[in-house]
Amino acid sequence: MNILLIGSGGREHALAWKISSSSLCSQLFIAPGNAGTNSCGINVPVAVSDFPELKRLILAKKIEFVIVGPEEPLVKGFREFLESDESTKNVLVLGPGKIGAQLEGSKDFAKAFMQRNNIPTAGYKTFNKASLEEAFFFLESSKAPYVLKADGLAAGKGVIISPDLKHAKESLNFLLRDRAFGDASDKVVIEEFLAGIELSVFVLTDGKNYVVLPEAKDYKRIGDGDTGPNTGGMGAVSPVPFADATFLKKVEDRIIRPTIEGFQKEGIDYRGFVFIGLMNVGGDPFVIEYNVRMGDPETEVVIPRIQSDLLELLLSAANGKLNTQSLKVDPRFALTVMLVSGGYPGAYANDKIIQGIENVNHSKVFHAGTKTDQEGRVLTNGGRVMAVTVQADSIKQARQLAYEDIPKISFDQMSFRSDIGLDLMDNK
Ligand code: AMP
Ligand code: GLY
Repeated sequence: MNILLIGSGGREHALAWKISSSSLCSQLFIAPGNAGTNSCGINVPVAVSDFPELKRLILAKKIEFVIVGPEEPLVKGFREFLESDESTKNVLVLGPGKIGAQLEGSKDFAKAFMQRNNIPTAGYKTFNKASLEEAFFFLESSKAPYVLKADGLAAGKGVIISPDLKHAKESLNFLLRDRAFGDASDKVVIEEFLAGIELSVFVLTDGKNYVVLPEAKDYKRIGDGDTGPNTGGMGAVSPVPFADATFLKKVEDRIIRPTIEGFQKEGIDYRGFVFIGLMNVGGDPFVIEYNVRMGDPETEVVIPRIQSDLLELLLSAANGKLNTQSLKVDPRFALTVMLVSGGYPGAYANDKIIQGIENVNHSKVFHAGTKTDQEGRVLTNGGRVMAVTVQADSIKQARQLAYEDIPKISFDQMSFRSDIGLDLMDNK
């Protein structure tokens, strides 16, 4: 069958790489893709939220299955767009509709969903501009640190953790009064601070049945030792040693099952990935956030560990037949290190020539912000440029191999964290 994968990051390269290896895949198109996805299928220069152009592409290329990588088209209603059109209504789509996508598109919706379905999460209250005074009182009666979240999509910048009341009040003004993120901060969720270790858990569901995919740990800060500003993610490891069977059973019983049952109770036809950002608070899991897509760079360690035919799994989820599927997982560790542009997550320059990818011999290199120029050279085209993934029997060995390969790749002002996986080693 012909398939369209929407997106252009490291996540999409990892998905494209795995999907293209399936015997069920005839032609794979990626919109818009990057210099890496080009070797797994055919890149088409259409933006992820250009619905009319995506529809033209689907019809022109006789696409039967659409896999949506990023959240934006889902939150904007891509599923409904295809379903409401006579010519595309029978195209299978992996990714929730507009209501399900609100789990990521609105923090207030996600918190209320969790509350209705008794899913453990930090206590919270939601405010808007009209209730700004009330929000100040609420902050005064809460304890530091204060967690403030813009309700809508804010490109990963919508969460502010304030160490003291003064900063929290300034942040509240910034979000609500100054409309820092436009409509996305018309509502603000203020919630309890959870102290613990973070973990990402991924579920593939058809709305009734589910498969729990390998978990991962993401390294969000730019600097070694978790210092400096937040990024989209600087590296990842899977499996996560502290997520033992007892903890993961709690996650399944208290969070995953109630989430899927919540979809059914509330009539949410959810077919796609659920990415659950968790905090392990003294051995008990609490949800920090839901995302309606896979994580990036987590996908670059989760996908290489999946030994089953991923396309068959994704099709079953889109078809409502996930109960017929099981998952085979490689027990070895996967570790990925992101190579980023100098200056990221602040301003950075694009179009730097990338050299030496062909010289790595332990890793799989997943492209993220890359493009090919007219002479066929690979250039940087984003803050996060590529993810170098290694699989090995221990984190120690995976680290050794990844950091041996990385210096073989070069581009002007290339930067990366040197401590991915270090905190998880404990002889693992
Ligand atoms: P998000 O944009 O929702 O991923 O949040 C960004 C980061 O803020 C998370 O990865 C956590 O590290 C942190 N965070 C969010 N909510 C909380 C909370 N309630 N308690 C502690 N940390 C939080
Ligand atoms: N790595 C975190 C995310 O994809 O949101």
